[in-house]
Amino acid sequence: MHKKAMVTGGGRGIGLGVVRELVAAGYDVAITGSSPAEHYAATLEELQKSGSEIFYLQGDLANTCESRHCVEEAVKRLGRIDVLVNNAGVAPKVRADLLEMTEESFDRVVGTNTRGTMFLTQAVAKQMLGQEAEDGARGSIINISSISATVTSVNRGEYCVSKAGVSMLTQLYADRLAPEQIFVYEIRPGVIQTDMTTAVREKYDAMFAGGGCPIARWGLPQDIGRAAAALCTNSFRYTTGQVIFVDGGMHIQKL
Ligand SMILES: NC(=O)c1ccc[n+]([C@@H]2O[C@H](COP(=O)([O-])OP(=O)(O)OC[C@H]3O[C@@H](n4cnc5c(N)ncnc54)[C@H](OP(=O)(O)O)[C@@H]3O)[C@@H](O)[C@H]2O)c1
Repeated sequence: MHKKAMVTGGGRGIGLGVVRELVAAGYDVAITGSSPAEHYAATLEELQKSGSEIFYLQGDLANTCESRHCVEEAVKRLGRIDVLVNNAGVAPKVRADLLEMTEESFDRVVGTNTRGTMFLTQAVAKQMLGQEAEDGARGSIINISSISATVTSVNRGEYCVSKAGVSMLTQLYADRLAPEQIFVYEIRPGVIQTDMTTAVREKYDAMFAGGGCPIARWGLPQDIGRAAAALCTNSFRYTTGQVIFVDGGMHIQKL
């Protein structure tokens, strides 16, 4: 029988990379996003050719009522959620110096990336608690944070704070849910080629060319997807709260 997954922001970018790998591994997948369903019609049609059950649920992650509704709908259609991938997230609309950062931008970014992820995870964790364990787990939760969880960028401080929060909520849920056979991991991507990084493409092209990353290329959504799919297997049943860097080695401190 197919395992069941929910991937937030799974319609494009890194989330779609994760969905593709989970589908290849035989999962049925509920995809969420804030855009209307029509936006992802072509992508869904293509994914559905795999024979897996794949559907889209519209819901704003920053709105806990909408998120809870997405979880309820996903459970109605899938029966259970074996894997939650918390991928949806936003960057600041404007990269402004820390001293010019607005409260509005802080609230939008932290409200979506951190608060939204915190409460969506809470809803899914409660669902997982009621599920029978399969393959040694009642569920797995994978949070997509960022190297910005620990690396400063003073022109997008709200993003860094939001991802540091995702890192801590990973630890919290890992601690709370380990006795319940629910395992929680954090994938910390480096610089990945998606819509989010389109506006800063030249900056990072120059960084890769200048030796700023040991594996000197852009990361791809598939790189994150493969790591996420690996964490969903039963190979990591004595591991939780772990951070997996998928960043081409960018976190290595060099002298
Ligand atoms: N690209 C990178 O270099 C990089 C590096 C490290 C970490 N990350 C993280 O990886 C995740 C995915 O990034 P990406 O590069 O794939 O970004 P992206 O291309 O901008 O995609 C963002 C995804 O999140 C969804 N989303 C955004 N706001 C939402 C909301 N309020 N409610 C529900 N869904 C929402 C989007 O769907 P809709 O547009 O339909 O809402 C979309 O599917 C983010 O958490 C990001 O912070 C990215």
